[in-house]
This record gives sequence, C-alpha cells and structure tokens, in this order.
Amino acid sequence: MGKRIVVFDTTLRDGEQSPGCSMNTKEKLEMARLWARLMVDVIESCVAIASVDVFEAVKTISQNVKGGPIIASLSRARDIDIDRSWEALKYADRPRIHTFIATSEIHIKYKLKSTQEEVLQAAIAAVKRAKGYTEDVEFSSEDAHRSDQDFLCKVVEQVIKAGATTINIPDTVGYGLPWEFGARIKNLFDRVPNIDKVVVSCHCHNDLGLAVANSLEAVRNGARQVECTINGIGERAGNASLEEIVMALRTRKDLVDWETGIVTEEIYRTSKLLTSIIGIPVQPNKAIVGANAFAHEAGIHQHGVLQKPLTYEIMTPESVGVPQSRLVLGKHSGRHAFKKRLEELGMTLSEEALNKAFIRFKAVADKKKEVFDDDLLAIVEEEVMTPSETYSLDYLQFTSGTNIVPTATVRLKRADDILQESGWGDGPVDAAYKAIDQITKVQGRLADYSIRAVTAGKDAMGEVVLKLEVNGHTVMGKGTSTDIIEASVRAYLNAINKIVGREGPPKDQAAHRGV
Ligand code: KIV
Ligand code: ZN
Repeated sequence: MGKRIVVFDTTLRDGEQSPGCSMNTKEKLEMARLWARLMVDVIESCVAIASVDVFEAVKTISQNVKGGPIIASLSRARDIDIDRSWEALKYADRPRIHTFIATSEIHIKYKLKSTQEEVLQAAIAAVKRAKGYTEDVEFSSEDAHRSDQDFLCKVVEQVIKAGATTINIPDTVGYGLPWEFGARIKNLFDRVPNIDKVVVSCHCHNDLGLAVANSLEAVRNGARQVECTINGIGERAGNASLEEIVMALRTRKDLVDWETGIVTEEIYRTSKLLTSIIGIPVQPNKAIVGANAFAHEAGIHQHGVLQKPLTYEIMTPESVGVPQSRLVLGKHSGRHAFKKRLEELGMTLSEEALNKAFIRFKAVADKKKEVFDDDLLAIVEEEVMTPSETYSLDYLQFTSGTNIVPTATVRLKRADDILQESGWGDGPVDAAYKAIDQITKVQGRLADYSIRAVTAGKDAMGEVVLKLEVNGHTVMGKGTSTDIIEASVRAYLNAINKIVGREGPPKDQAAHRGV
C-alpha cells in the first residue's frame, strides 16, 4: 500500500472566493455532506469572521458533519479572527484552526505595511492563540513561493515550535514552475530542523495552468497534504483541481507511491452538484469531469475502445462515477422513483423538502418528455437549497415579436400580499424586469446575464445565471424553467430575494397591491 496523502478541500473557502461562486449555508452543508462521502480528510469551511452568514455556515457544518473529516476555518493572524473561528468550530468532532500571514517582501511591504520581524511575531502569536483552543493548528505562509527562502525557513521553524501541526506552503499567485516549486518544498526538508514534527502541505493556484503539476511536484518532494477544490474553482484562475490530483495519483500508481483515501466513484456527482449550485459549468474538455472527458468521437478511437477500453481510456468512467445512463424520469414517474434517483445522486431530502421538489418535478415533467439528472439537480437546487423567499412568482404573461413593443405583466406573492405590475422594454426579459423593479423597489444594475440549456434537446430546461449590483453589493441569481423568460424572471427574483433578505422589503409597497 502507498503512503497516504491528506486531501484538504477548500472549495467552500478559496473556491467560494472566485467571482460568482458564492453559496448559502444550506448549499454549503449539502456540499460538505458530499465531501464526507467522498472521504476528503479536511473540509475548509470558510473564513468564520468574514460575515454573520459565513460564521453560521462554519457553525452549521461543524454541528452537522460528524464522525468524518476535520473541519477547518481560516483566520488571519489576529486574535479576533482566531477567537471567532473557534466560536464556530468548537462544535466539530475534529476542529482545525488554520491561520495565515503573508511572508513575501512585496506583501509585507505593500499590503501589510510591516516588517519581517513583526510578521514573524504575529505568526508565532497566532499559532499560540490557536493552540490554546485546539491541538490541530495549520499555519500558512501566504505567497510562500515568492518569499525570501531564508525568512520562510525561519518562520516555519518558529511556528512549529509554537505548536503548528501542519505547515502549508501556498503559491498564492500561481507563479511557480513545477521543478521550482518542488525545490521550495525540498528546501524546507533540508533546512528546517524540526520539519519532521509536522505535515507539510501545498496550496497551488492555477494562474499559469500549473496548479496540479506543482502540487504533484510538491508531493514528490515530501508534501503530505494537498489543498485543492472540486472543478478547480478558486481565486482568479482557480486552485489545483481535486479530481485531477486524485486521479493522477491513482492512475499513475506505477510511478507514484502515494495514495489518497478519496472514494473516486463519488467524484462525478460531487462535481455535478457544485456546478448546479454555483451555476458555472465546467468546460466540456475539462479533465475527469468534463462532458467530453470519456467521449470518443473519432471512428478509429471508438473501434479501439469497443475492442479494449484501455486502448484510448487510461481510466474508466465508472472509476469516477460517471453514470452509465443519464435518462431517468418522466411524467409518469412517481414520488418513490423520484426520491430513489435523488438518493442515487447523493441527496437525501427531508419529507417537506422532498414534497416541494416533487411538485416542481411534476410541473417540469409535464412540459418535458424526459427529465435528466441535471434537471433534477437544478430543481432541487432551486426549490430546496434556496433560502425561503420574500417574493415568489405567481403569474407571468408577456408579449413580444417583430415590430411590437415587448410588454410583460408580473404578479408576485409576498407573505399574504399579491403584488402586480406591468412594464415594457427592449425585449420580454427587460419588460418583466421593469415590472419586478416597480413591485420590489429594488434599484439594481444587471451586471451579468447568461443562459444555457441544462441538458440536451429542444425541450431542455434553460438555466439563467445573472449578477445584480445593488448599493455596491453584487449578488448572484439563478433560475431554471423550460421557458427561458420564466427562467430569467426566476433568476432575477432569486437575486432580489437575497438583497431584500439582507435589507428587508421596502416600506411603501401597499400601493402595489394590484389584485
Ligand atoms: O492562496 C493562498 O495563499 C491562500 C492561503 C490564505 C492559504 O489561500
Ligand atoms: Zn489560495
């Protein structure tokens, strides 16, 4: 058996930092449960101090994801951050405080406006503070790759003395080349006298497309923890992709003597759920989880694969959990079949949530002959994981065409109120959005709008993902329907509900009680 690599998943923290990838607490909990099935070793569940919502997410995960992975929360090297992390983490079976400070000259001088000595002292103090709460303390040297290596060695040695149990070496800006990053890791083993007391970790960003290669090189040079994200999401160009690292180690067992505890058959559905939650699809040619990763187009390839899969497949689709058949349900499918398929997709819903999702499923199945897994994920995401709404869509009617002015009438429910307005615009979506603006009084700017088909076929559900900017905040909205105008309205309302959920509905809405 090979040596064990610790898989540290930071999708909920670094991954969520990428534009448009934010998740609510329910979504984070659902994802964390899937990670527990995937058997990741550590789930970094956000930066507890970032906001009340984020704090709640860390706490909820700590309270609910039991008996499996370590739950970590990131904290700057400050008492207040570390204390807050502990407040949220103390419910976890296996809590880890992860603290960090930048050690590169450029960060120390321009970002921290500090000195190496102050940084060193802050790092030691942070680790000691965290150690007062828990045995398991990780220290990260932000921008380690570009740091002065003498200083890095000094910091690492001192924080180990202070009690750190994992030392993480990030290539924060994705600057390193594989052999260079590997040499950084080796340097620590050569020069830091107490390095054998800790697990050395790597955390690579993908700005040059080298995050996975750099992580593997780190492992080759002694790192025993890899920090990574599902689908490689993360700041800017993202982080090292979990599925690529894990499958590289598994597929090239002949060359590498390290293995992970990941249940690789869970990879595909975890990736799918994440895609459905954040609304950002992976590119079709993405390694391991892309739609084309196991598709063979050329006749000669197809022939070879039929004769012997290994001719063109270095790993099987089954090994990462790609389902054999994607067709699942239709309008005659009952509640039992619906529930069973959701369970196969990794989602166990409460009775109430199941009922809600089933009603929507029936409505979709009435319009659409075949309901696929991706449709089901979209339904559950919208009906179950979206927090309770202030406004819900009750009625939508629009007219549009060539040489006519597009108009829309929208009726919304808010508690016991029915609110109705009409609008006109450049197109039916614009008209409907104007009607909604009049009802909700939310003055926002549509900063981004995209639409895609969730599955293939003319009757596919359309998924709209948009960004709405209101008072300097940007929120993401997502909506699905077989009707793309309705999907657009649902996405817009989803964003507005997030805004009013934070700020409360405007006061003077009585005037809009239209019907
Ligand atoms: O990229 C980075 O340096 C990080 C650390 C804070 C761990 O995300
Ligand atoms: Zn990072």
